[in-house]
Order: sequence, then structure tokens, then C-alpha cells
Amino acid sequence: MPADRRKRENPGIDDRFRIFAGRAHPALSRAIADELGVELGNVHISDFPDGEIDIKVNVDVRGHDVFVVQPTCPPVNQNLVELLLLIDCLRRASADRITAVIPYFGYARKDRKDEGRVPISAKLAANLITEAGADRVVSVDLHAAQIQGFFDIPLDHLYAKPVLISHFRKLVLQHAVVVSPDVGGVKMARSYAKELAAELAIVDKRRINATQTEVEAVIGDVGGRPVLIVDDMITTGGSIAEAVRIVKRFGAKKVYVGATHGVLAGPARERLQQSGAERVFLTDTIPIPNPPSIVKVVSIAPLLATAILRIHRSESVSGLFEEKPEGSSH
Ligand code: R5P
Repeated sequence: MPADRRKRENPGIDDRFRIFAGRAHPALSRAIADELGVELGNVHISDFPDGEIDIKVNVDVRGHDVFVVQPTCPPVNQNLVELLLLIDCLRRASADRITAVIPYFGYARKDRKDEGRVPISAKLAANLITEAGADRVVSVDLHAAQIQGFFDIPLDHLYAKPVLISHFRKLVLQHAVVVSPDVGGVKMARSYAKELAAELAIVDKRRINATQTEVEAVIGDVGGRPVLIVDDMITTGGSIAEAVRIVKRFGAKKVYVGATHGVLAGPARERLQQSGAERVFLTDTIPIPNPPSIVKVVSIAPLLATAILRIHRSESVSGLFEEKPEGSSH
């Protein structure tokens, strides 16, 4: 894009700004670029016959402030390696600063050794991104906040909360209860409840295996009240389906669900569709092709674009979030 057009549309962006996209989520990358009033940088990405990835950046990046948008969503291995190659390519082309914009950070679930002889996959992914040459990272609702500390480079941790809350508010619910589908999600649910001036309840979830969960109890009162269940991600949909079932058993009136990352693996679509929830709001940190009718996809692009602009201008990113979730470091 000519520099004069970029300046006219977004006076906050200078000629040193460049933004590129991997192949993980072209629609989100384009939406971010549109929000910023710029065009995505020209990059060729293809696969060799043996599956290896070939990349060539077709514009000058020497001395530039470069952003690369690539969620490491399924297929996780391919998207992660593609991100690493893009960063390596930009580093060797003498970009001044490379910011990896990773709306969904894959491999986040393994963030500690909870038994012998297992990897800490989240730490390895962070090491790889740093070693490839990223100078900073932007991500949204990391599965565990401590993953920020796995990076020895700055990481801006964004929250989808303002995006999901704006849609919850449109429901105009009276005396709603915000429900966490498990104990691990309480901090997140509490920050939603605080912002919505709603009460909080917690589902007592036990995981049976990777795809099945079991719940028996709800801590808190949901009887006769509308319920908003919030979670960081929906993978197989087991946690949400069980949470909807139990709050309804305890008398919840209408149940809505909001989650940041719609991984939607295996039986997730069917489980959500049959869950009995009124609506499931998911952001587009991950592509959700042909969403089931119960799902409403809401865009995180304006939030990411604002964060990118602030980073480019060396402005505060934490200022984007008026209220900080408990335990937040920023
Ligand atoms: C758990 O710690 C997470 O916050 C999610 O609740 C979980 O990953 C969802 O997985 P699934 O949809 O497979 O139950």
C-alpha cells in the first residue's frame, strides 16, 4: 500500500509498519488489516510435495516494525512451524522488530509436569517462538496466565472479555448469574460477574478423560435465574455441555455460553447444538467454518488492531482493559 494512503487512513501508522499473515486464519488477518487501514504484506507461502513449508516475503522489511498474525490453532504443528519460519524469514531480512500476534496459543494445556516423563509443551512452544527471533508476542486469553512467564520477551496478554461482554449486555438479562464450568475458570468468571454486576456460581467438574467430563454439583444459586457460562476455550464441548445440563437441573431459566477460543474438535459441534443453551458466543481467534446455528461468532479483530496500533506507537496496551482480572500481572 502506498505510504500516503496509509497515513491518510491511519495517521498513527508510519512507513516502517508492516503486517503479514500466515495461512492459519486469513479472514482474521484481513479484518485486522482493514481495521488498521493497511494492507497485508505480500508473502508467498506454499507446501513442497513432501509437506515442508516454503516461504518468501516479497516486500522490503529492513528496519521495519513488523507484525505477524498466526494463531497456532489446529492443525497446530503446521501452524506453529509456519509461524516459526515466517519469523525466521523476517529476522534474516533485517526487520527491526518482530511481533508475533498469536490470538490462540496452542500447546497451552501442558504448562507443567503433572506426572513423570511428560513434556512442558507450552514452555517448548514459547522457546521456539523466541529462538526463531520474535521480539514480542501478543496473545488472547492464554489457557494459563503463567505462560506469560515462559517468554523472556515482552508479551501483551489481551482479554476477550470486553468483546463478549458487549454481546452479553445486548441480551438485557435481569439477575443473571455468571457460571464457571470448573474451578480453574473461577478468576475469569469472577471478573465477568464483577463487570456485569452479576452473582457467581461454580460447577464442580471432574475430568474423566480428554473428551469426557462429569459434574455433580453447582456451588451457588442458579434457580430461576438466567445463566451466563464463560470459559477460555471449547475443545470437545464436554465441559460446556455438562455445565449447561447441571445448571438447568438446578433450575436455571435460560443459559447462554461465551468462550474466547472455539477449537471445536471431535463431537463439539453436536454437543453444543444439543446442549440446551440458547446461544453460544465464540470469538474468531480460531477460524470457525460453517458454525452450527447455535453459535454466534463475534470478532476480536478490532481489539487486536487497537493493541497492534498501540504497540507500534509505544503506547500502553493494558489501558485497553479498564478492569484487570485477578492475578493479572498488568
Ligand atoms: C479447562 O481447563 C478449560 O478451561 C476448558 O474448560 C476445557 O479445555 C474445555 O475442554 P472441552 O471442551 O473438551 O471439555
